[in-house]
Amino acid sequence: MEQDFSALDAILAKYRGRKGFLIPLLQEVQNELGYLSQSCMKYLADQVQVPAAEIFGVATFYSMFRLKPQGKHIVRVCKGTACHVSDANGIKAALLEALALPEGENTTSDMQFTLMEVACLGCCSLAPVIMIDDMTYGKLVPEAIPAILDKFRF
Ligand code: FES
Repeated sequence: MEQDFSALDAILAKYRGRKGFLIPLLQEVQNELGYLSQSCMKYLADQVQVPAAEIFGVATFYSMFRLKPQGKHIVRVCKGTACHVSDANGIKAALLEALALPEGENTTSDMQFTLMEVACLGCCSLAPVIMIDDMTYGKLVPEAIPAILDKFRF
C-alpha cells in the first residue's frame, strides 16, 4: 500500500522552482515526519522533478538526515579525542547496557532512545560527555549512566 504524503504539500509549495532547495526541503520534511523513508524520498523526487538518486545521495551524505525512525530521546555520546582519553568507551558501554540495545541497533525497541556517536560536543573540558536531547552531562563515570537515563524514561 502506498503511503499518503499529502501532508507535505504545503512544504513542497514553498520550495518548488527555487534554486538550492534540496537540503532545506529535506530538513523541513524530516522535521515533519521524523525521518526520511525511501518511499518519502521517491515521492519528493516526483514532486520536485529531481532524480530520486540525487535526493537519496544528499540524504545519505549528511549525517543530520535520518533514514530510519528515531527514538523519542536522542542520546549523543562523544567519541572525540578529549572524551576518548577520558573513558568514552566505558561511557558508551554503560549506555549500551542500560539501554539494552540489540546488536546492530541504535534505537531501543520501545522507541524511547536512539544512541548516536558524535565527533565532539564542543565542551571538551567536561570530558567525557554525553548529550540527551539538549541536556549536556559531563565529567561522567559509567556508573552514573543508568540514573541519568532514568530522568528521561516516560
Ligand atoms: S571531545 Fe568530547 S566534547 Fe569535545
